[in-house]
Amino acid sequence: MNNINIVDIVRSRRTILDYKPEKIRRELLIELLEHASYAPNHHMKEPWKLKVYEDESRSIFGEKVVDSYIRLGLLKTLKEEKLKKARIAYDRFFTSVPHHILFYMDKEDNGGYIDDENYAAVCAFIQNFQLLAWEKEIGTMWTAKETLRDEVFINDIGLSPDKHRLIAVVQVGYPNKVPKGKERTSICDSIDWIQTKNIR
Ligand SMILES: Cc1cc2nc3c(=O)[nH]c(=O)nc-3n(C[C@H](O)[C@H](O)[C@H](O)COP(=O)(O)O)c2cc1C
Repeated sequence: MNNINIVDIVRSRRTILDYKPEKIRRELLIELLEHASYAPNHHMKEPWKLKVYEDESRSIFGEKVVDSYIRLGLLKTLKEEKLKKARIAYDRFFTSVPHHILFYMDKEDNGGYIDDENYAAVCAFIQNFQLLAWEKEIGTMWTAKETLRDEVFINDIGLSPDKHRLIAVVQVGYPNKVPKGKERTSICDSIDWIQTKNIR
């Protein structure tokens, strides 16, 4: 297998906050998502489901996200005037990003092990997508907040808290600015090598 690029792609990918206004061609987005679906997934469940917010839907979607932040108390330090300004700033952000992709899945065993497996598979799908996008110079930002568990929000976007688990919202577009890389700690700090019969 040819692996010339994979290390560079994994190491150079950045979380992108600032995007150019042009949309990614739908065919290209579909192509990247098709490739991403080769992510590992137990029993070939292919549990990933997506909603892609573009154009006019972005503002409404952003509004529902901010409603959720308010409901969850994430903006409770802001007085009325500051909150108004924050809403305007959030709207500017949501409409500055060409695509917001919501990744979700159907619940199968109400938060049990099967749901964990499916959740893990969708996360693998998301990371595949982020890397494949980066290879085409497309930026992404994986976001996940308590909003993903906010039942009112889940209803607001036409899904059902009983049936669906939200996993991430990923912003997608061509980067306007690529931030500097963040160094990682040595992986050796996280590894125990076990070689004796005593595995405790
Ligand atoms: C589950 C998850 C949730 C995240 N949520 C956010 C978020 O809400 N806001 C944000 O700016 N970045 C979020 N990130 C991106 C991380 O902040 C980012 O990956 C980290 O700072 C490392 O930067 P890099 O991706 O450029 O290497 C999230 C990443 C993951 C995996």
